[in-house]
Amino acid sequence: MSFELRRFLPRSLYGRAALILIVPIVTIQLVVSIVFIQRHFERVTQQMTGNIALEVEYMLRQVNAAPDLAAAQQVVAGLVAPLALRVELPSNRALSDTRDFVDLTGAFVIEALYQSLGAAAATAGQPSNPVLGVDLVAERGQVLLLLASDKGPMLVTMDRGRVSTSNAHQLLVLMVVTSVLMTLIAFGFLRNQLRPIAQLARAAEAFGKGRALPYRPRGATEVRAAGAAFLDMRNRLERQIEQRTLMLSGVSHDLRTPLTRLKLGLAMLPDDDEVEALRRDVSDMEKLLDGFLAFARGDALETPQPTDAVQLAQQAVENAHRAGRNASFDPPVPPLANPQVLLRPEAIARALENLLNNADRHASQVVLSLSLSPKNLIFTVQDDGPGIPEDLRAEAVRPFARLDPARSQNRGMSVGLGLSITADIARSHGGTLRLGHSERLGGLKAELVLAR
Ligand SMILES: Nc1ncnc2c1ncn2[C@@H]1O[C@H](COP(=O)(O)OP(=O)(O)OP(=O)(O)O)[C@@H](O)[C@H]1O
Ligand SMILES: [Mg+2]
Repeated sequence: MSFELRRFLPRSLYGRAALILIVPIVTIQLVVSIVFIQRHFERVTQQMTGNIALEVEYMLRQVNAAPDLAAAQQVVAGLVAPLALRVELPSNRALSDTRDFVDLTGAFVIEALYQSLGAAAATAGQPSNPVLGVDLVAERGQVLLLLASDKGPMLVTMDRGRVSTSNAHQLLVLMVVTSVLMTLIAFGFLRNQLRPIAQLARAAEAFGKGRALPYRPRGATEVRAAGAAFLDMRNRLERQIEQRTLMLSGVSHDLRTPLTRLKLGLAMLPDDDEVEALRRDVSDMEKLLDGFLAFARGDALETPQPTDAVQLAQQAVENAHRAGRNASFDPPVPPLANPQVLLRPEAIARALENLLNNADRHASQVVLSLSLSPKNLIFTVQDDGPGIPEDLRAEAVRPFARLDPARSQNRGMSVGLGLSITADIARSHGGTLRLGHSERLGGLKAELVLAR
């Protein structure tokens, strides 16, 4: 299929199925009806015209056989009533073959008149065709036929209804009406068949954004099987996430008890450099465990709820200030009409905290902004620090990845989980974490993209 053609095809399954259904039916109907109508009306017209031609030919023979014009006129006068024709003899009208362009059977009428009368004249021993012209247009609903007789030109007029059937459109109307009706019924059935697929797609999409829509497999066997497989997968994934959360938080929690004991023990010891170093180690380990816990919580257990995105961002900046960190909020211009977005507020707050934390650690100027489109919500954190070189960005997002420690101002110990947790949170909202270069401040630009 060429690219050009694909552009005009409907994108939705429903549209395509309808197309597959309708195109062949319409084509078959068109071909069959055109061929049938043409054949049918051609034959009928020929037969009807042939009959009239016999009558006209009979009259023409009588006229030719009459001794003079007056006798011929008498003959004609006797024939017009029983034959239901109108005759003008002699006539001074000049006729050429004319018919309406849309008059499909008109061509057959003209052709059949020439043929029948010509053939009759030939058998009577006359070499030339007596027909001089046939006009279907000059008088409404009438056929004007000009003939050459021995007594001069003879104009015969008859009802159009006698030479061709006129209700060709009835068949067409009937056909169009039935096809429209059948297509509508087919549409109804088709929609019912496609609805379960659309439902499955919605449930899968929602799950990708971290929302569990109620879903029950239904529809045709194959769709039902796909639906059941999806449910299985969803349950397995949910179980796995839960297990990972439980295990990691269990480990972190169990490690915390001996660590606390260790801390207490160290507090009892007299202050000297060695003990001080040990205390630092212990506090670093505590921080590591906190990071672990945050990572483990994964926020999979929090349910999404409509949240004011602007307020969330403002709150994140305020929290950063309270923790003594540098950050500013750049509210969207113009103000958002409806900043409500379905998300997990705690998780997003943690993600923003991570990004602000990182920026503050590496830079002096930090700006948080956000943008909202029908498809997604993007929080952007920009700073004026050294940024992350393009080839190291993927590495920075990996768990426990700390880039060159000399680059950071080393305020506080780092675990290397911040970006990884943030990316995880973005993924669980059907989005991603994008790292780039900030044109505005020259440092890192971290975009938290969330699907709506
Ligand atoms: N704003 C930034 N500017 C420059 N480098 C950054 C920035 N943010 C992160 N990085 C680099 O990416 C690495 C990974 O960041 P990440 O947040 O995952 O871990 P961390 O900050 O080192 O530790 P944690 O956040 O767990 O305390 C950091 O060690 C740092 O080298
Ligand atoms: Mg960090």
